[in-house]
Amino acid sequence: EKLADKITLFEVAVPRVAKKAQAGQFVIIRLAEGGERIPLTIADHDRKAGTITLVVQEIGHTTKQMSSLEAGQGILDVTGPLGHPSHIVKDKTVVVIGGGVGIAPIFPIARAFREAGNKVIAIIGAKSKALLFWQEKMQKVSNELLIATDDGSAGHKGFVTDVLKEVLNKEKVGLVVAVGPGVMMAAVAKVVPQEVGLVVSLNSLMVDGTGMCGGCRVTVGGKTRFTCVDGPEFDGHQ
Ligand code: FES
Repeated sequence: EKLADKITLFEVAVPRVAKKAQAGQFVIIRLAEGGERIPLTIADHDRKAGTITLVVQEIGHTTKQMSSLEAGQGILDVTGPLGHPSHIVKDKTVVVIGGGVGIAPIFPIARAFREAGNKVIAIIGAKSKALLFWQEKMQKVSNELLIATDDGSAGHKGFVTDVLKEVLNKEKVGLVVAVGPGVMMAAVAKVVPQEVGLVVSLNSLMVDGTGMCGGCRVTVGGKTRFTCVDGPEFDGHQ
C-alpha cells in the first residue's frame, strides 16, 4: 500500500517473527541472494495472521527495488526480531515524536505506552501534508495527537520541536521518545531538559545486525555501543 510519496507499507508473512515481535524492535531483510541487507523497524505485527508491517521510504537502491514489489511477491529473507524492545514505563505522561518515516516505528511504541496506562501525547511531523500518514492510527493510541509540517499544510507550521516546547511548558512530562531523522532527534535532545527522560531510536548503517561487524557503532555517553545489539534505543541526552 502506498502511504505517501515514496513511502510504501508492506505486510510480510513471517509467522515466527510476528510471534516474538515487540515495540522498538527491527528486522533485517534481503531481497535477493548477494543483495544488500537493510534494517527496517517493525511498525506493527499481527500474531494471529503471522504478519509484520514494514514501512519503507525509497532512499537507495534496495528500498527502490523493494517499493516496486507487487502484492504476492517475496522477500528472500527476514531476520528478526532484532534489538531490544522499548522499555515501557508506567503512570507517566509520555510524549512520543515521529518524524517523517519515523511515524511508522513510533506507532507500536505509542500503543505500548498507552496500554501500560500512561498518558500519551503524540507529535508527528513531516515536510508537508502529502508526506504524513497514519494520523488515524496514531489518534487511536494517543490521548492527544499534534501535527507539525515544515510548510504548514497540516497542523503547526514548523518543526516538531516547536510543538514539543509548548507541551513541555504545559504538562508535567516524564519521558520523551523520539524516532526520526538524526537531525530531528538531535534537535529534540536540545529541547528536552536533563531531568526529563529522553529515548531516541538510532538508525545507523547495519550489516549483520547481531553484533559481529561493528558497522553500526555509535558513541553514547562516551562509550562505544552497537546500535543493533545494545539498541536501537538509547538515552537521548547521552
Ligand atoms: Fe554488525 Fe551491529 S550491524 S555489529
